Order: sequence, then C-alpha cells, then structure tokens
Amino acid sequence: NGQSSLRPLTSDVAVIAHRGASAYGPEHTLVAYKQAMTMQADYVEFDLQMTKDGQLIAMHDETLARTTNAKELYPDRAPWRVKDFTLDEIKRLDAGSWFNKAYPDKAKQAYIGQQVPTLEEAIEFVKQHGNGKVGLYMETKAPNVYPGMEEKVIDVLKKTNVLDSEMLFLESFSEDSLRKLKTLAPDVKLIQLYTGAMLAGKDVHQEMKRISEYAAGVGPSKELVVPKLMEAAHQNQLLIHPWTVNAQDDMVSLLSLGVDGAFTNNTDLLVDLVEKP
Ligand code: G3P
Ligand code: CA
Repeated sequence: NGQSSLRPLTSDVAVIAHRGASAYGPEHTLVAYKQAMTMQADYVEFDLQMTKDGQLIAMHDETLARTTNAKELYPDRAPWRVKDFTLDEIKRLDAGSWFNKAYPDKAKQAYIGQQVPTLEEAIEFVKQHGNGKVGLYMETKAPNVYPGMEEKVIDVLKKTNVLDSEMLFLESFSEDSLRKLKTLAPDVKLIQLYTGAMLAGKDVHQEMKRISEYAAGVGPSKELVVPKLMEAAHQNQLLIHPWTVNAQDDMVSLLSLGVDGAFTNNTDLLVDLVEKP
C-alpha cells in the first residue's frame, strides 16, 4: 500500500472470483467456486442471504427466482423470498439449470441439479479444494432484512476455523453491518463497498479518512476509480478492490492506476494479467 501512481502488475493484486467463476458457470454453486480455484483465483466471493430457519446461504438475490427453479417447484409462493423458505426447502432446488437455459453456448450437464450452498459448505469446499491457499471474501447482503446476520456470520467463521485467516475479507454496502462485524470480531478485515450514489457530493479524502476507522479497504464500483480516489484511499492505508471488472482492457486500466485487486466474473482474464509465483 501507499502507492497511488503507476506500478507494475504484480502478484500482490488480489484476483477475487465474483460469485465464483460466474462467467463460466452458475453463480454461487460449488462447481463455479471450483472453476475459480482451478483458474487460480486468490479469493472466492460469496454473497450471503439468510433462510427462514436462520441458516446463511450463498446467494446474490433476496429472492430465489432468478438463480433457481423455485417458480416451478413452489409455484404458489411468489415472490420466492429467501427469508420465507427453510434451508430444507431451498436444498430441494436446482441452482444450475437456469444457467444452461440463459447461456446455451456455455451449458454443461454438470450444472444440472447443483444445490444452493450454505456458507459453511462453501467455506469447507474452498478450504478443501484451495489447499489453504485460496481466500474467502463474503458480503452481508440486505443486512436490514436479516436481523442477527452478523452474529451468525462470525459464528460460522469460528466454527470453520477461518476467523483468524490472513486471507479473509468481509464486505458490505452497509456501514452499520460492517460496524457490527467490527464489534464482534475487531481484527477482521472489512471492505466498505460503494456505489456512485454513495460517494456523490462527498469529499473523498474526508470520506476515506472517516471509514479508515473501521475498514481495511474500499470496494468501489469500477467507474469510481480515478486518481483522486486512489490517492485518498491509499493515503489512509485502505486497499482498493473495484467491482465488477470483466473486460480485460478495464482490468489493464485499473491495474495501471494501482488497484490492490478486483472482483471479476472472468477469473482467468485477470489471472492472465497478474504475475503468479
Ligand atoms: O461485492 C462487490 C460486488 O459484488 C457488489 O455488487 O451486486 O455483485 O454483490 P454485487
Ligand atoms: Ca457481492
């Protein structure tokens, strides 16, 4: 850290597999996480939601509708909110076939019948297949919808023995959620996510200074990454991990600006650009 100007592309840039290798397989399935690790991701990213019976699962949306067959299996339960289904009900869903229908050119038989992973399953899978070298990066999604979510995240991290891992980041758009996590686990590395609207009208230097009280880094939308933000973040010892960077020319531009990592659906394209030992 500390550098804000041009620097060579090096192995200290974190390749964060956004929802797994989600350009190639169904997001948030074990097969997509495996593909990310095969492609040499440094981190696998999980978005978290919570079931009716209080279990954390890896899923981006607050509803089951887009990435599972919930509409077919449970036709009378619109709008298929995660919080209205038990884990047992969610485990009956197919979380892979939607991908084959949406992307026939990338369809694979193996995607059919993939299950929605719990956070615990996802962590154990990355531990097992990543040989201890692949990190975990997880987002408290919609924390206002799920009271007690932060406590459950920390409980699972303790149970799976990864809370003290060097290669662990917790991320959120919600400052409240990050502050709760900080209270529960003061040493855990936190990433404050930003949309453009969240930074609009703010003095970025002041904002970076303010959040450096609790955060280890920032996760801005890629359009927000300009030299002024880079400088403000690095002056406050904050890492910069933009999302979601899928085109290789965007990756090159952002690496030239000095980002410390990036979220990408195309794990392989970013790995191609950074030196690996
Ligand atoms: O977590 C970084 C980025 O993933 C935020 O956007 O909607 O893909 O979770 P989203
Ligand atoms: Ca995310």
